[in-house]
Parts: sequence; structure tokens; C-alpha cells
Amino acid sequence: MNLKPSELAMVPFVSVANMMKLIHHVGIEKMLTEIAHEIEEDFKRWELFDKTPRIPSHSDVGVIELMPTSDGELYGFKYVNGHPKNAAAGLQTVTGFGLLADVRTGYPVLVSEMTVLTALRTAAMSAVATKHLAQKSARTMAMIGNGAQSEFQILALKAVCGIDTARLYDIDPSATEKCAANLKGLGIKIIKCQSPEEVIEGADIITTATADKNYQTILTDNLVGAGVHINAIGGDCPGKTELHRDVVARASVFVEYPPQTRIEGEIQQMDADHPVTELWQVIAGRIEGRKSASEVTLFDGVGFAIEDFSALRYVQRAIKGTALYRELDMIADPDDPRDLFGMVLRAG
Ligand SMILES: NC(=O)c1ccc[n+]([C@@H]2O[C@H](COP(=O)([O-])OP(=O)(O)OC[C@H]3O[C@@H](n4cnc5c(N)ncnc54)[C@H](O)[C@@H]3O)[C@@H](O)[C@H]2O)c1
Repeated sequence: MNLKPSELAMVPFVSVANMMKLIHHVGIEKMLTEIAHEIEEDFKRWELFDKTPRIPSHSDVGVIELMPTSDGELYGFKYVNGHPKNAAAGLQTVTGFGLLADVRTGYPVLVSEMTVLTALRTAAMSAVATKHLAQKSARTMAMIGNGAQSEFQILALKAVCGIDTARLYDIDPSATEKCAANLKGLGIKIIKCQSPEEVIEGADIITTATADKNYQTILTDNLVGAGVHINAIGGDCPGKTELHRDVVARASVFVEYPPQTRIEGEIQQMDADHPVTELWQVIAGRIEGRKSASEVTLFDGVGFAIEDFSALRYVQRAIKGTALYRELDMIADPDDPRDLFGMVLRAG
């Protein structure tokens, strides 16, 4: 890439409208599959990345976080919030945007919306975990929490893991109605359920994506049968969990980045040295994932910066040769790099 300084100063920006067009352009299941592949490839080179637990700013209503990482060539970060009470006010629980930069120059090379992209990457991540941990014969999933993330979660498991039936449950029946209506005609059998007991019947995979800034017990141990794989993605903050600790105690627990998950994940309920396996080790073939058909596997997903990096780099490639971005005049670019003040003067 031999771009002139003036070209480097213009940064491709993917708006929400263009992200939605990109999804239609690529096809949602194909895009989920491709982002899942990107995540898998990056998890295989896990050791190469800069890693740090995300940097949170908590309030009594939610959290605002920054999630940075770098592979030495590209640097990326996401700004993301989590505000469980937003939905009641007609606002999104989770919103985000992100940036990629060239490590050699420090210049940004992409700015993108990440509210929609986070839903795609979170679903792709669950699909990667499910692919490596669930029983290969799994075809039925239970989706507990039928909000913004739910349809993405279901379609990713359909596309990547061959799920053909989704059982839905939410404490708010209108969320279940919305989820079922959105998935109509998309090639997956939908069963609406009235209780946690009903939703887990016959499910090989249980995904929880509920939002509450509390220790919740969405799943108790008696609800989890032998051999089930659980993706618990809603508990992603200190003081915010979804599973009874007995479920966590019985399961083999797989995590993204332990220093972050021990603060934010289901395992915050357990001792600081509760045994966990890093999922990247399973993906890289270094450690066995599921060891038996009766084992309960738990992906304690909190969302890690490398997943956002993978998704942003995917978008950076996918928009090339399309009109699905516009250029932002984001980097000041004086003809003489030392004459920033002169450039400001001349603009008067
Ligand atoms: N792990 C990750 O990477 C990741 C990424 C994105 C979002 N999240 C988390 O996932 C959760 C869901 O996000 P969203 O954007 O779909 O939120 P949302 O507010 O759109 O939907 C959450 C749904 O959960 C339901 N719910 C709440 N308590 C419940 C209960 N006890 N039983 C059943 N349903 C219940 C609500 O009625 C709502 O429909 C949030 O907590 C969010 O922070 C995690």
C-alpha cells in the first residue's frame, strides 16, 4: 500500500446504513460464517496479540468500555456500552463503534459502526465455541433472552453448526414474538416457550443472552441435562451473571481471556483459581475440548477485543471495491507536517 499522505488522511467510515447494506450484499449467514472463520484464524495466533482486560467505566445504570488490541500490524479498539434499562426507554442495551489503525504510522484505516457488527461478532463467537464444544449431533438450541442479540445468535448456530430448531423463551413474551416473527421463513424451526423448564426440553445447546445488572439465575442445575453445551453471553460485567453457581461448578468451563472473564463472567461467582480452559487452545488443537458425550460444556463468553478486531478487519476487506463506505476527513494533513499551526491560519 503506497498511499500519499493526503489519501492516508481520509479514513473509510462504515455507517449503520452501510453496515446493513453490507449484510444484505454478502448475505447474513455467509457473513456470520466468514466472521466466525476470521475469529477462529485469529484465535489460532492468539499469542501474537496484545491482550488486556477491557477498560470499564461503571455507573449504577450500566457500563461504558474500551476494548483495545493489536497483532503488531493493525491496532483496533471498540467503544461499547451495556445499559440493561435502556430497552425500557426505547434505547439499545448495547451500542458501539470501532477503529482500526496501521501500527507503522498510527494512522486510522477504518472507522465503523459496531452496534450491528457486535451482534454479528458475538453470534459468530458463540458459533465458534459451539462448533468446538457441542456434540456434533446437536440440532436443537434453546435461546433464553430474545432481545437484540437473539436472532443473530440463532442464525450463526444454524449457519456454522447446522442447528435446525430454536426454542425461544423470554420473560417478556413480546420479545419472543418479535424474535419468532423475524426468523420466519429463514429456514429454522421456531418453538415459542413459556418457561425456562419448557425451553430447555430436548435442547442440545442452550444460549443465554439476557440483560440485567444483577446476579440472575436464568438456569439452575436441575435444568441442565448431561451432554448439553451452554453459551452464557449475557453475564458480561462485575455483578451481572446468568447461571446458578452449581451449573458452573458442574460444567467444564471455556473462556476467552481469563483475566477479563474472572472479573466479568459467570466464573466471578467461583474461587479465583476455578479451573478454566482458554478456548483458543482448543481451537489451535493444543487442548481437547469436549471429552465425553455426557460432559456439560460452558462457554462463559464475555466478549474479547480480538473478536472485534477480527470483525473490523473482515469489514475492512469486505468493503473494498464497493460503495459501502464514505471517506472521513479525520486526520489533519498539512503540506509541511511540522506546520500544523500554519495550516490552521490559512484556513481562516
Ligand atoms: N458476551 C458478549 O460478547 C456480549 C455481546 C453483546 C451483548 N452481550 C450481553 O448480552 C445481553 C443481551 O443483550 P441484548 O442486546 O440482546 O439485550 P436486550 O435488552 O435487547 O435483550 C435482553 C432480553 O433479555 C430478556 N430477559 C431479561 N431477564 C430475563 C430472564 N430472567 N429470563 C429470560 N429473559 C430475560 C429481556 O426481556 C430482553 O428481551 C446483555 O446483557 C449484553 O450486555 C454480551
